[in-house]
Amino acid sequence: MKNQKQAGREGDAATRVRYREGASEAIAGLPYRIVRKIQENGPISFSDFMEMALYDPESGYYAGQDGQVGREGDFFTSVTAGPLFGQLLASHIAQWWQQAGSPDSWRVVELGAHNGYLAGDILSEIRQSHPEAFRGLHYVILEPLERLAAAQRNHLQEFSDQLVITSEPESLDPLPGYLIANEVLDALPFHLVESNGDVWHEIGVSLSDDEGFEWSDLGPAPKITGTLPQRASGYRTEVRPDFAGFLRPLVRTIQPGRMLWVDYGFERDDYYAEPRTTGTLRTFRNHKAGEEPLDQPGSQDITAHVDFTAVMEAIQSIGGKTLRFENQARFLTESARPWLLGLEGKTDPETMKLLRNFQTLTHPGQMGSRFHMLECEW
Ligand SMILES: C[S@@+](CC[C@H](N)C(=O)[O-])C[C@H]1O[C@@H](n2cnc3c(N)ncnc32)[C@H](O)[C@@H]1O
Repeated sequence: MKNQKQAGREGDAATRVRYREGASEAIAGLPYRIVRKIQENGPISFSDFMEMALYDPESGYYAGQDGQVGREGDFFTSVTAGPLFGQLLASHIAQWWQQAGSPDSWRVVELGAHNGYLAGDILSEIRQSHPEAFRGLHYVILEPLERLAAAQRNHLQEFSDQLVITSEPESLDPLPGYLIANEVLDALPFHLVESNGDVWHEIGVSLSDDEGFEWSDLGPAPKITGTLPQRASGYRTEVRPDFAGFLRPLVRTIQPGRMLWVDYGFERDDYYAEPRTTGTLRTFRNHKAGEEPLDQPGSQDITAHVDFTAVMEAIQSIGGKTLRFENQARFLTESARPWLLGLEGKTDPETMKLLRNFQTLTHPGQMGSRFHMLECEW
């Protein structure tokens, strides 16, 4: 299989990916919408291509098909590993609620709520273990995709009095709150760039002569590569230049409040380390990682790690403060301490199941060191 590095810039025939090949009927319209966009505007950025491939309202990967996440889907997350992740986050959030003076009316805001499983785990745990906090709780899911909003409404029927699902953060009055997002930042569209030794060029997407998508050099891109170190010719990587623009509308939904961003990624020095010459872009289909992002748009996930230094800089630039940045094992082990201390002598099947869930979330060889948690406040 070719990788990003091998893919040539200007339509080397070996790198072309035919957009007709293997497209199922359900996604057949999307490749043609992308083709039309390129025919009308010329080559597009990879960020624009990814925006359509994942979020086209009709047949983008997240909008157009069911069940991407979990055992039957394309990838696992901490949420699909079991209910403990949500239960531990619920304790952490309830602790914040108390520290914030136990506001009568407050909200939890979630992005990327997918089928609503994390929301269900958090709401159930707060209702059971923190009934005083549950009374004034409004659970807001920010969801731009109608298919997912319907799945969330369906899964969370028993919480319909608490639940608000909206695509517009601007519609929410400021309220004390806690915002959470698991694996959302890695799903945000990004730009691809490649160094020629002196200057970073943006790599976009154009049409090949034989009805395929191919890579295309869009020229020097100083505006989006300002924070990158100089790298050797051929070094290819990804950039998300506007985390601040993404975060800004969210800040007013939690006034005052905190946010917790959970994802795989690195700080900048590690992200753009010299040996990482092909970046972190991956595709996922049926639990198999791939490296052909132009292949059959709409039918596979596209993701890249998160530059957490860029996120922390963005938080600061819009008046927030990073409180913690650590791996998932450390964060969750601290949240789990009271629960773990109370387990002595318990060997019932439910406890053993939760302990296995805890191990999946925190073991360094599983999700413990790969995932990081960034908590910030305004
Ligand atoms: C990798 S999935 C993670 C799903 C879920 N949080 C979990 O951990 O199982 C990424 C999700 O983020 C959502 N997403 C991406 N950008 C978003 C945005 N701007 N607002 C809300 N959701 C977004 C996608 O629709 C998708 O459901």
